[in-house]
Amino acid sequence: MHQIAEPRRAADHGRTSHRAPGAPATSTTPGAPFPVQYDRTVQHDRPALHDHPAQYDRPALRAALAAASEDALIYDLDGIGRQYAALCSELPGVAIRFAMKACPVDEVLGHLARLGSGFDVASPHEVAQALRTGVAPRLIHYGNTVKSDRNIAEAYRLGVRDFATDCLEDVAAIAEHAPGSRVFCRIATTGEGALWGLSRKFGCSPEDAPRVLDAARTLGLVPSGLSMHVGSQQMTVEAWAAAIDSLAAVLEALSRRGITPDRINLGGGLPALGVSDRRGRPLVPPLDKMFTTIREGMERLRAIGTAPLGFLLEPGRHLVADHGAIRAHVARLTSRRRLDGSREDWLYLSCGKFNGLYEMDQLQYRLEFPTHSGGPFVDAVVAGPTCDSDDAYAQEGSPVRVPRAIASGDPVWVHSCGAYATAYATRGFNGFAPLPYTCVGGPALDGGDA
Ligand SMILES: Cc1ncc(COP(=O)(O)O)c(C=O)c1O
Repeated sequence: MHQIAEPRRAADHGRTSHRAPGAPATSTTPGAPFPVQYDRTVQHDRPALHDHPAQYDRPALRAALAAASEDALIYDLDGIGRQYAALCSELPGVAIRFAMKACPVDEVLGHLARLGSGFDVASPHEVAQALRTGVAPRLIHYGNTVKSDRNIAEAYRLGVRDFATDCLEDVAAIAEHAPGSRVFCRIATTGEGALWGLSRKFGCSPEDAPRVLDAARTLGLVPSGLSMHVGSQQMTVEAWAAAIDSLAAVLEALSRRGITPDRINLGGGLPALGVSDRRGRPLVPPLDKMFTTIREGMERLRAIGTAPLGFLLEPGRHLVADHGAIRAHVARLTSRRRLDGSREDWLYLSCGKFNGLYEMDQLQYRLEFPTHSGGPFVDAVVAGPTCDSDDAYAQEGSPVRVPRAIASGDPVWVHSCGAYATAYATRGFNGFAPLPYTCVGGPALDGGDA
């Protein structure tokens, strides 16, 4: 069996629980602004294999990783398709608008479009890429509340008629440059419970939302609905419940003003399943409970409106994260003495923050060393290849267990890194080019540079 990297926690020296007896099951991720929940049952010193069983049920992806002789980012289209189908069956009748930013790869977008997905876009360039899949413009939702006059006019020219908004200035600009369009007022959320909160930059208060939609109506736009985002890699059910409470309050206020939205956009935020936090603790989201809360929430919101209410969802990470993996290689395993005299081992990989693993300072991806079947091991800090200290796993986090015999050039598989990998790769920081990508499964085997 291949060696699966086992995250180790520097602070607890091998105890089997990261939580003191009786302590709450909520803990704060260093660097993450809000408390994040962890599974009470996970034994964090056992091999990662048991912690994330789902990621080992990926035969096509594993076969492609094994076949790769050079570094590449590999997407499993059939896996993404299964994830899409599973989401649709959990939330029947909800229209999916895949958040393109999470994976702007033509083959992935084309596959999702064939399955019936529309797209959440944030710029005219994304509109154009979405249209290349053959999707109808009415299935494209411009979910970015931040847009210039030129952005709005160009999206409108390309056929987009649905726009998110959150302020009077943006409403006036949409009325001028995209006349008659439908607008969705984004309600601010706290972002609590998410690894990335998306809280202050977007959304207005629930109290202001009726004013924004009222202004839209006055200016000849269609006050179509509300939108929100609970924060990316949201780990709590409570965040969904709180957002639905806010939506309910705004719907009631709108109905008092005679505004009857026909759609609610529930945003993104559904989690990846195969990653750990920056200290190496598996992130185990209560996904079933989240779906139950969303389903019940939709019923509640439907009961408020006087007109039929449809729902949209803009998942990004949840559809692609666990169905993408990187075949990388070892640059070097080193051991050095620090200024305080202690010894520290580092595993430098051929890919890192700037060419595929942008989120590595907030997450730990699972590493697999396919050419090494056993120990002895060292506990190493994992880092990318560039001459930049940000290009590393969080250094106050746990080191990763690495076979001591690993050598420069040996392959390393990085799991569950399919979200936010291609678009965040730099154009070649320090000369390390973005990884080429390839897709397996789906109707065609295609590839190229991301
Ligand atoms: C407007 C909007 N919708 C959807 C998403 C996708 O979020 P996630 O990847 O957490 O599902 C984002 C991500 O930032 C977003 O900004």
